[in-house]
Amino acid sequence: MSILDVSDLQVVFLNDEQQPSIAVDQINFSLKKGEILGIVGESGSGKSVTSLAIMGLLPTTGKVTGGQILFQDTQAEESIDLVSLPSENKREYRGGKIAMIFQEPMSSLNPVYNIGFQITEAILLHQKVSPRQAKQQAISLLQEVQLLSDNQTLETEFLQQNHHQPIEKKELQEYVRKKKNAMLKRYPHELSGGQLQRVMIAIAISCQPTILIADEPTTALDVTVQATILELLKDLCERRQMSMIFITHDLAVVANLADRLLVMYQGKIVESAMTKELLFNPQQAYTKGLLACRPRLEETRSYLPTVTDFLNNQEITDETEIPPKTNILGKKEIRLNQSLLVVKDLRVGFPKPKQLPWHQQEYFWAINDVSFQLFGGETLGLVGESGCGKST
Ligand SMILES: Nc1ncnc2c1ncn2[C@@H]1O[C@H](COP(=O)(O)OP(=O)(O)O)[C@@H](O)[C@H]1O
Ligand SMILES: [Mg+2]
Repeated sequence: MSILDVSDLQVVFLNDEQQPSIAVDQINFSLKKGEILGIVGESGSGKSVTSLAIMGLLPTTGKVTGGQILFQDTQAEESIDLVSLPSENKREYRGGKIAMIFQEPMSSLNPVYNIGFQITEAILLHQKVSPRQAKQQAISLLQEVQLLSDNQTLETEFLQQNHHQPIEKKELQEYVRKKKNAMLKRYPHELSGGQLQRVMIAIAISCQPTILIADEPTTALDVTVQATILELLKDLCERRQMSMIFITHDLAVVANLADRLLVMYQGKIVESAMTKELLFNPQQAYTKGLLACRPRLEETRSYLPTVTDFLNNQEITDETEIPPKTNILGKKEIRLNQSLLVVKDLRVGFPKPKQLPWHQQEYFWAINDVSFQLFGGETLGLVGESGCGKST
């Protein structure tokens, strides 16, 4: 059963001179109950505009100029056209039955309120519950997105810390309560990018949406954190019988996540198929290009092809003549005798706050004995997961 049917959707933007440009050009797709649909395409292809049109969140310069977005409410008998729905009725759907998460969780959260306040606020906006019940819900949501350990883990933690003492039930409860409150009281700046995205996911699922739209939710995260967020989203869809539209420019991200894929290019859907089929047997030149352009670790090519090469139907081999401009992996002169920068045994420490003024100053060592050289003409890659010291 499909719960969302987008037909002939067209979105047009007007520029300052009132000239129209088509951002989404008569696209058709549907989303089934419980399905994870991936929308893939390069930046500017119309992915975000499509999702904003579904949410009714287009900026004032953008208009849906054609088509329908039919939402089949599981409780209602007839489907509702979100395009023609009056704006006062939209709130029930936006952030209610259809929720959305974005690339930058930090920009969606308010820096001056703690996360407990922001989650309970979202719950109170959509549900008729007391503030106390909303707080309890916020706690279980934080546990569901694994930002907070579940009750049993918290209790075990306490028992292990105090294994040599007799334990009073009251003390145990107090410990669990404190741990939960401490998480609710944290401010956005006290959480990492991955943790903030978990907060956004908690807010998004707080009103039991039927559809979750995730627009590049892991693009700002490093690969290890990205993997844990993708796993969480997949789990939530299964557990809650929720459908998801997952938008990304990165095919590798959706390969193990989506049931079905749509490929967008210049506002149109150029290909759609079940994920495996699309990845192993792409039909359209653009999709073939997208797949072939991904650099592989196991082969070093002197020429890095782009999608345009495939759209021009050009056969790319390692012998293909290299246009000088795009020769980014070609051989060039590196002057190994000339080091421009020598970093030797570098250590950088950040002072830790002292418990008491007369305590000795302790440091958090962000960089420990790092040495490297940079030679003339060389491009040196500095790679590592978030928090390992690259920026420092
Ligand atoms: N606020 C806007 N005003 C004018 N044009 C826009 C606006 N937002 C997006 N567009 C245009 O719509 C097209 C699709 O953009 P978008 O959906 O953001 O791409 P994607 O999410 O796939 O990177 C682009 O050509 C972009 O320039
Ligand atoms: Mg986008």
